[in-house]
Amino acid sequence: MPIYILGIESSCDDTSASVICDGKVLSNLIANQEIHKSFGGVVPELASRAHQQNIIPVVKQALTVANIDKNQLNAIAYTRGPGLMGSLLIGSSFSKSLSIGLNIPLIEVNHMQAHLLAHFIEDCGEKDPEFPFIGVTISGGHTQIVMVKNYFNMEIIGETLDDAIGETFDKCGKIIGLPYPAGPHIDKYSKLGDAKKYIFSKPKVDGLNFSFSGLKTGFLRFVKNEEIKDLFFIKKELNNLCASLQNTIVEILFEKILEAIEKTGINRVVFGGGVSCNSGIIKKFKENEIKKKYKSYFPKFEYTTDNAAMIAIVGYLKYKNKDFSTLDKSAKARYTF
Ligand code: KG4
Ligand code: ZN
Repeated sequence: MPIYILGIESSCDDTSASVICDGKVLSNLIANQEIHKSFGGVVPELASRAHQQNIIPVVKQALTVANIDKNQLNAIAYTRGPGLMGSLLIGSSFSKSLSIGLNIPLIEVNHMQAHLLAHFIEDCGEKDPEFPFIGVTISGGHTQIVMVKNYFNMEIIGETLDDAIGETFDKCGKIIGLPYPAGPHIDKYSKLGDAKKYIFSKPKVDGLNFSFSGLKTGFLRFVKNEEIKDLFFIKKELNNLCASLQNTIVEILFEKILEAIEKTGINRVVFGGGVSCNSGIIKKFKENEIKKKYKSYFPKFEYTTDNAAMIAIVGYLKYKNKDFSTLDKSAKARYTF
């Protein structure tokens, strides 16, 4: 009998629902919330209201695209955390209610684990990585290096002490007038610029941890100083600024991951999270595979950003283990593993 899992993701500003059947994605719908763009970042109160409006139509559409009836579902997997509390509450309450209504099991999913386990979706792109591997979760809210021994045995061995990598892209982008989220724009303009034109200092952080706040402050100071000399500095130098900034971020990440490979003796590096579609990161890691003796794995674009297919695949893996949740569990804004 095929196993159908409905995944629900509502941790930040995207409302997403997906149906998967035995690990294969039948639908993966995402309702983006354009409203946050005018505020230059996600406004939690507006995000939860929009989830409230979007969740039923998105789930209905996910079932329609998958061409199944809700009564065929075997379980519902939802993001328990981490994320914005108001947003998580919409997805968790909806999922609990539907699981009661359909009398099927409820499965809780950790959003950050899901970013890595997205690789086990049948059409995720590259061949499934073998365990153990080094997981690298890079998103708007997180920057973590994770030792992944198997599907559910994960340990964080390094993380950012301040800003996340996506946050750094977004905040630096804001400084040079780019819309939120700035990561994709910086990536685009980088392709047209000289990555060596400007040098930004890289932080010195011991062990496998990261720090990005110094880079952000240094970038701000540099841009403001240059603007005093030339009011049109940003406009003239946008491509070079983006390329140089992106290059610095890529170098910081690359050096830390090489250190993690050396420390752990594991040479499979598996990326997940919104920033893992960055062209500079992919190029750098792919280009150095032979020279530095590791293999890197990047998810398909649609599984890098927040999506419910990654929640559903974790649901499927947990379903096979009969690892079900209970109705008394509450959403968790901070949720480590
Ligand atoms: O995983 P995600 O969709 O949401 C969070 O859980 O945070 O990641 C969103 C982040 C944003 O900071 C966005 O700017 C960044 O991913 N991002 C990128 C690119 N595409 C999205 N950063 C750099 N280059 C990109 N191409
Ligand atoms: Zn995410």
